[in-house]
Amino acid sequence: MTEPLRLGIAGLGTVGVGVMRILQKEVDLLEARTGRRIVLNAISARSRAKDRGVDLSGYEWEDDPVTLARRDDIDIFVELMGGSDGPAKAATEAALDAGKDVVTANKAMMAINGQALAEQAERMGRVIRFEAAVAGGIPVIKSLCEGLAGNRITRILGVMNGTCNYILTRMQSAKLTYEEAFEEANQLGFLEADPQLDVGGIDAGHKLALLASVAFGTQVDFAGVELEGIGRITIEDINAAADMGFRIKLLGTSQMAEGGLEQRMAPCLVPATSPLGQLEGGTNMVVLEGDSVGQIVLRGAGAGEGPTASAVLSDICDIARGFRYPVFGQPAGSLIAATPSQSNTAAPFYLRFALQDRPGALAKVAAILGEAGVSIHRMRQYDHDGVAAPVLIVTHATPRAALDRAIAGMTATDVVDGEPVALRIEAV
Ligand code: NDP
Ligand code: HSE
Repeated sequence: MTEPLRLGIAGLGTVGVGVMRILQKEVDLLEARTGRRIVLNAISARSRAKDRGVDLSGYEWEDDPVTLARRDDIDIFVELMGGSDGPAKAATEAALDAGKDVVTANKAMMAINGQALAEQAERMGRVIRFEAAVAGGIPVIKSLCEGLAGNRITRILGVMNGTCNYILTRMQSAKLTYEEAFEEANQLGFLEADPQLDVGGIDAGHKLALLASVAFGTQVDFAGVELEGIGRITIEDINAAADMGFRIKLLGTSQMAEGGLEQRMAPCLVPATSPLGQLEGGTNMVVLEGDSVGQIVLRGAGAGEGPTASAVLSDICDIARGFRYPVFGQPAGSLIAATPSQSNTAAPFYLRFALQDRPGALAKVAAILGEAGVSIHRMRQYDHDGVAAPVLIVTHATPRAALDRAIAGMTATDVVDGEPVALRIEAV
């Protein structure tokens, strides 16, 4: 008879409790599908006394997740605490060292320490699986490693932070200000403990770095992600984009270009009628492009108890079935240290700035744009009460370097107040 597969879970919050619920409810189904009984032996969290809405009485309790990770009666250490370093990393390292496989939902830990952990796992003959770390319930790592294994991936793009998508779509549909939509997301419990992880684009940047590693066979490089959050997006940007037939999304894109690996997570304009433009609320969407398959689109819940636990269970079931492959889809030693490259592929840009309302001001800006090689496609100036008028410009396709020269010039003049907001218009 096949031995049961024994789990230890550290972290009994939203995701940990979700995993426990599926394990308790679907024990027979999981055995029928994997051929092994999957049993939870031990658990850990900060507070033993907290009521978590699930029965914890049948499991061994450990106060210290590192002790849990080393227990003799577990085969898989399931890390669901979070945090790039600290207890999550210490316990993951301890588990690998003790010969356990690891399943985690922790994008921060994998994006920052993934290469070292993958090397350790391989030295120990163990695997780390992290499907839940990217886009919650969407099986995107599996799609890249398995379904698209015969392709060279040419580009990945997507909306990978549900909180930002919720805020941006509420600004659009309910005409809320950024601050009002942020507060609504907060009331609904969407925000990470440190909201900057969401609205600063960091959480989504972690996910993009993980996807890029698997897609392009590179060492995960979060530091190489060009990051910009959604904090400067105003209701005026949302409305102006809508007037022109666009929506604003926090969009991640990555491709291997001649200059190196491009990874960018920033607010962009996408056509309102495109699948990404129509993505509402907290939903995620990842678009994968392969040389043979063409484009495929994956859409679903990027967070929450059920969807994230579903992804954790998928990894556990793979290990139960004996289905093992290297952490980032190919041996850690074969992953290349790619040169990070700023994306300079020409694209149209949306520019918003406050222009002093006096003779010659617009001519000065037009001259700066012209000297930088940036050509104006459309322009609008709005009415105003004060001394500076909001001006919107859509450029013809221009390399980012040329736009940056123009922005530096505009910021240095005495006719533009503050720094212009520049958003790429992405063809999707
Ligand atoms: P929660 O904050 O809900 O839960 C975290 C859990 O970890 C809590 O049970 C907490 O204990 C426990 N914990 C924290 N520090 C320690 C420690 N030092 N020792 C033992 N236990 C500790 O987090 P989530 O469930 O939301 O997230 C877990 C992981 O999943 C994170 O990496 C997150 O990024 C990732 N993730 C989450 C998603 C989601 O929708 N929530 C989606 C995708 C990924 P206690 O309860 O006693 O305080
Ligand atoms: N904070 C994330 C989001 C959920 O809003 O998508 C966890 O990945």
